[in-house]
Amino acid sequence: MADADETFTFVVEWYEEIAARNRQFLLIYHVKNKGVEMYDMKNRKTFLKTSLRDHPIDLSDLYIGSTINVLGRQLKVIEYADEHTRSKLSSQKEKTLGLIKPDAMNKIGQILDHVYRNGFMITKLKMCKLDRNEAFEMYQEHRGKPFLNDLLEYVTSGPVLAFEVVGQNAITNWRKTIGPTDPATARSEAPNSIRAQYGTDKTRNACHGSDSLTSAARELEFFFPSTGPKRRNTAQLSDCTCCVIKPHAIKSGLTGKIITAILEAGFEISALQMYNLEKANAEEFYEVYKGVVQEYNGMVAELTSGPCIALEIRAQDAAKSFREMAGPADPEIARHLRPRTLRALFGSDKIRNAVHCTDLPEDGNMEVEYFFKILEQ
Ligand code: CDP
Ligand code: MG
Repeated sequence: MADADETFTFVVEWYEEIAARNRQFLLIYHVKNKGVEMYDMKNRKTFLKTSLRDHPIDLSDLYIGSTINVLGRQLKVIEYADEHTRSKLSSQKEKTLGLIKPDAMNKIGQILDHVYRNGFMITKLKMCKLDRNEAFEMYQEHRGKPFLNDLLEYVTSGPVLAFEVVGQNAITNWRKTIGPTDPATARSEAPNSIRAQYGTDKTRNACHGSDSLTSAARELEFFFPSTGPKRRNTAQLSDCTCCVIKPHAIKSGLTGKIITAILEAGFEISALQMYNLEKANAEEFYEVYKGVVQEYNGMVAELTSGPCIALEIRAQDAAKSFREMAGPADPEIARHLRPRTLRALFGSDKIRNAVHCTDLPEDGNMEVEYFFKILEQ
């Protein structure tokens, strides 16, 4: 889609922790070598020039609102910096809200897999539980409709999973992917659609998709507010253990398959959220491995190389039983000794081993708190 020698420019923002301030840069992206240049707009000088080899940035990673990692810095893309970039990239990067509704929450793995297989990217993801007022706000366009009461009862009956879907003409294409409102109609007219496969009836129809540019913007803002308080997560922070799906696994489209395996093994996923970690956060989270595990630096680099997904897992003896499910840290060893474990099935090497899991039972609540309480603030 892009010529080999093309360049694209973006305005990006970096929160500089030491100075506690946001700094803006012009970022120039070279398609040819996936290299970037950063130009300090305030001081009018080149800030950084690099071709990234460890974690190359793809053109598809760059769109308004995305977070990219350049040598350990999390940069937020604020806007396109020239007309060429805007006209070429804006329609390819439409955003819409996807929502898995309560009746299909036992199928989140399969549905997320469906999302990825259809070529969409998921750039925000959060499990929430709405109360009646919140549900009414979300579905305000249906005020006065005869089915509103049933709808509100239903969407507040359990947790939902909200996500930002990004892709070419995402609003229309995502609605096509979920299918007609009534699952019965979907089964006859669009048998491969999500509602055909996972919907129950006209109200309990598995999924939601925004129907226009305006509602997509409003509904995304509802679940993922750009300012003010965040929507509550569903973490219970007790009798739990922490699983983190690593960036390489997400990039390889394994998210849905990993979640399906966890649920099919009988674990409860009581909270789930996507995060972009700063280097300092990854170092803090992995603190206990520093100086102990040889791979520490590689682990930090992997965890900050793209979005990761944290899960609160609940079960009897959660930490111990989930550790068994995750398997030996080295996927090669796992494939020999415990071929049904997550690392055996989805890991590539000791650093890119698909999932992190809490090591010690007494650390389970603390690791879950790190994501769902500390990073939430
Ligand atoms: O979700 P979609 O945009 O396809 O349909 P809608 O007409 O905007 O309705 C919103 C939601 O209300 C549906 O997804 C159903 O869950 C529910 N509904 C219902 O319970 N009974 C109907 N007759 C129509 C919709
Ligand atoms: Mg609708």
